[in-house]
Amino acid sequence: MHRISRSGGRVRLAVACAATMAVLGPLIWFWQDSLLPETYSVMDMGFADYGGGRRGAMEHSGGGASAHGGHAGHAGAGRDVTRLIADPDRRADVAVTMVARKQRFQLPSGRAFDGYTLNGQSPGPVIKATKGQLVQVRLINESVPGGVTLHWHGVDVPNTADGVAGVTQDAVGIGKEFTYRFVADQAGTFWYHSHQMSHEQVRGGLLGALVVTPAAQEKTADVVALVHLYKGVRTVNGREGDVPVQAPPGTRVRVRVINTEYGLMPVWVGGAPYRLAAVDGTEINGAAPVRDKAVAVVAGGRADLEVIMPRDGSPVRIHLGGPAGVVLGSASSTAPPVPRPAATLDLLTYGTPARLAFDPGKPDRRFAYDMGRRPGFLDGVPGLWWTINGHLYPDVPMFHVAEGDVVRMRISNDSGETHPMHLHGHHAVVLSRDGVPATGSPWWVDSLEVGVGESYEIAFVADNPGVWMDHCHNLPHASEGLTAHLMYEGVTTPFTVGGPAANEPE
Ligand code: C2O
Ligand code: CU
Repeated sequence: MHRISRSGGRVRLAVACAATMAVLGPLIWFWQDSLLPETYSVMDMGFADYGGGRRGAMEHSGGGASAHGGHAGHAGAGRDVTRLIADPDRRADVAVTMVARKQRFQLPSGRAFDGYTLNGQSPGPVIKATKGQLVQVRLINESVPGGVTLHWHGVDVPNTADGVAGVTQDAVGIGKEFTYRFVADQAGTFWYHSHQMSHEQVRGGLLGALVVTPAAQEKTADVVALVHLYKGVRTVNGREGDVPVQAPPGTRVRVRVINTEYGLMPVWVGGAPYRLAAVDGTEINGAAPVRDKAVAVVAGGRADLEVIMPRDGSPVRIHLGGPAGVVLGSASSTAPPVPRPAATLDLLTYGTPARLAFDPGKPDRRFAYDMGRRPGFLDGVPGLWWTINGHLYPDVPMFHVAEGDVVRMRISNDSGETHPMHLHGHHAVVLSRDGVPATGSPWWVDSLEVGVGESYEIAFVADNPGVWMDHCHNLPHASEGLTAHLMYEGVTTPFTVGGPAANEPE
């Protein structure tokens, strides 16, 4: 009896051990498999997705390979991203030098903040250009540990100027510099920010506005309203509270709203109707006056609101995410806050249709960017992580295109949280949401809010060769692996994530 029981105990123990190993073994394997190498090329990340298009002759065999054990040194094969530049012989029309510092600085209210500045201020200086001008920005890192870059959010720059550490350049270390050159060939509202340790540096204020005006400017007053939170304190152009702007009765005012934050920002107007003149740097066709509706500005996105000042001299208040904002009027005007309208303007139906310059009905590639969430390991850390097409970072799709392709992409979200998705280097047009076709103005975006349970079809022309990020602009999400890339046939990058420059794009 006694012996039988003891041997039974041994069997039970052995079974328990085997069961533990059966559970632990795979866990250990998943943990180890998730560890990111010290340095890797994004070209070796994940798996190639050709979207039903042809596989380029120059493609390196990335299929099935992952960042693990990736090989370095792609230079020489095809076009290197460092050769995708603006005309080197052309003189700059707008030349700016920006010195980046880590420092304690004061907001105009006197509140002190530990963060980052460009030329001693945050937000950095507003860069202004006229459409067609060549913009040249020399970035010098005086004291930002870990290095900096500048990414031109929404500007379809040549790939070399995209400012993504580890993809299009090395992070600029202390005492070093880098020069960005691009032609501002789209008039509109844009912004710039560091794309090295983006989450930390953008939050810390390493950002600013870029405004490109049309060559023939109609007579409008032009106001930039860059919204950023410094340690939870909401500011417009770095100021707490209202930003007063002089605007005589009858004048047309364009307010360029830039959302540098991580979530949707409702914007509404009290005292006059408005037109939503542009979204993400593209004019809305047939933008009709709007009353009693808010505009939801996507994280990273921009909305240009146009207001005509009332003839009776009464002021107008543009609410930017809360009671404060821009107050248009005379110096003495006080504009009382108005409550946020219950309804939000739907860009799927706003404005009037116009012909596209390409046919999204005949795409060369079709991709899916389906976001989800599941338990697993990310670089050895257990958690509930974002997935792209069911895969955890870095085993995510690499979207392959050839220059000239018409590309369609479905972006869907079953992850339980909303995601403001941002594709670098391109503007995409929204075709439908949840199967409902767009019937308003062509809705061109570089930043698109994809809500919980939503599914969008977008289309774009692959007309800007390079290696481009396609990620969530809720930047903590990007650093949690909600990042993929689009790459062109024949284009390679010599830069790597990690490595001696300690590149850390997210
Ligand atoms: Cu505004 Cu990849 O960034
Ligand atoms: Cu997200």
